[in-house]
Amino acid sequence: MEFVPRPEKRADTSYLPSYAIDGPDLGDEHRRIGELVGDVPGLLRPEDELKLYELAYFATGPILEIGTYRGRSTTIMARAARAGAGASLFSVDVDPQALRRGAEALAGHGVAERVVFVRGSVGALLREFEGLRPSLTFVDGDHSRDGVRRDLAAIEPAVPSGGLLLFHDFHDERNADPAVAEIGVQAGVEGSWVARDCDFAGVFGCCGLFRRRAGGPAAGGAPVVDALRRDSPRMQYLQRVRWPAGRMARRVLRRR
Ligand SMILES: C[S@@+](CC[C@H](N)C(=O)[O-])C[C@H]1O[C@@H](n2cnc3c(N)ncnc32)[C@H](O)[C@@H]1O
Repeated sequence: MEFVPRPEKRADTSYLPSYAIDGPDLGDEHRRIGELVGDVPGLLRPEDELKLYELAYFATGPILEIGTYRGRSTTIMARAARAGAGASLFSVDVDPQALRRGAEALAGHGVAERVVFVRGSVGALLREFEGLRPSLTFVDGDHSRDGVRRDLAAIEPAVPSGGLLLFHDFHDERNADPAVAEIGVQAGVEGSWVARDCDFAGVFGCCGLFRRRAGGPAAGGAPVVDALRRDSPRMQYLQRVRWPAGRMARRVLRRR
């Protein structure tokens, strides 16, 4: 589906599609998504929710969310992925209670199997799932300028060319108020690689959308998770010592 950037949409907060779809939305679930996730607390505007649903619906690679809270945005994206291209999600939060509540919300909506919840920072998540290449990242964790910069620095090597980034509270007047240090999303974005390597693609609700044009990792395969430390000592010994030694011995013998 063709992506439609809307760089002129800087002050108008309405929802408009970012893909060349027929009609104003993707159907009943999309239109009613706010009502359908009414049981899950959250801080999203209706336009944010419509945009999250649409972007997750069309995501063809993994979706990364920074900031789970109670799982409202996660539930919206997981439902959209189920209805659409079938992406899987990784949602990270520093608060273990948020992850528990998020997991409950997802289970209640029958989409738990689509999401991996991770406790920690996004930097830690990317070290755990080395090779993860998010096609869509929803940045909604620490909203301070330094917090946004830290998260952006962590994801810079992972976001591929063409990858979408949606920043919550990007279009919020508190960004310009020096007395509100906890909201510095715009300043965080402006001082980062996003300003250099991405195209602005519009404001929707209080969210700002960007698409990576330059830089990013070379196309790779699926993420490889090293779970060796979770194996029993005997299994670790076999994998670290016995089997590599056996392989090496067979190679030497073959050369003779
Ligand atoms: C605004 S809420 C997220 C709301 C959620 N995305 C939604 O729309 O339903 C912010 C969340 O980010 C988490 N958070 C704060 N700093 C973080 C960080 N550095 N990394 C990951 N999560 C963080 C908080 O614990 C909180 O649950």
